[in-house]
Amino acid sequence: MTETPTDSRPSGRVFIACSLDGHIADRDGGIGWLEPYANAGEDHGYEEFMDSVDGLAIGRKTYETALSFPQWPYAKPVFVMSRTLSQDDVPEALRDRVEMHAGSPVELLAALGNRGMGALYVDGGQVIQAFLDEGLIDELTVSRVPVLLGGGPLLFGPMDSPTALEHVETRSFPSGLVQSRYAVRRIAG
Ligand SMILES: NC(=O)c1ccc[n+]([C@@H]2O[C@H](COP(=O)([O-])OP(=O)(O)OC[C@H]3O[C@@H](n4cnc5c(N)ncnc54)[C@H](OP(=O)(O)O)[C@@H]3O)[C@@H](O)[C@H]2O)c1
Repeated sequence: MTETPTDSRPSGRVFIACSLDGHIADRDGGIGWLEPYANAGEDHGYEEFMDSVDGLAIGRKTYETALSFPQWPYAKPVFVMSRTLSQDDVPEALRDRVEMHAGSPVELLAALGNRGMGALYVDGGQVIQAFLDEGLIDELTVSRVPVLLGGGPLLFGPMDSPTALEHVETRSFPSGLVQSRYAVRRIAG
């Protein structure tokens, strides 16, 4: 991709659940430990969040998890960040809904800004970290569930520089899920 960054880049938004010790999947990549919380009959705001975005940018590993579901879980366009998969690897039935991107986060957002996209759901631990490192995340909603997984991919990892966050709100639910929303603080100048 050759597009250059523009001022009208889409807003990068994160909406993710993790264990209390910060893992987004268990050691085997499984997310079954999230099921009791997803099925608790509580409104954690996922639908409302989904309505607020124009599409998703997800990591290749998150894409592979989504592919393993009985039904494709996303109604909006999905852009998969991968340096190993190409468009030819996308199953025929998903080709109009899934696009592979080998470029950097800034290149992807520039391309999507040029297509008029306003907000993008960024998902997958490594990809979220890459977007954060490039200063491309504007809002983070993190739901912590009361389990210690002790291993597995982490939501946050080493970063090139600190990112200041502004706490917007925290809600807790009877299931024990605690959800906090943060805005990324922009440094003026
Ligand atoms: N708890 C939750 O709410 C939640 C949400 C989403 C996912 N998950 C789980 O988390 C796991 C996946 O997360 P993950 O952190 O392991 O991987 P990920 O972020 O989903 O995918 C990582 C892959 O993205 C590709 N990529 C392209 N550009 C990249 C860049 N600039 N930086 C980093 N990666 C880039 C690479 O694929 P190539 O190797 O193909 O180049 C890399 O291996 C899965 O088990 C999924 O089910 C949980």
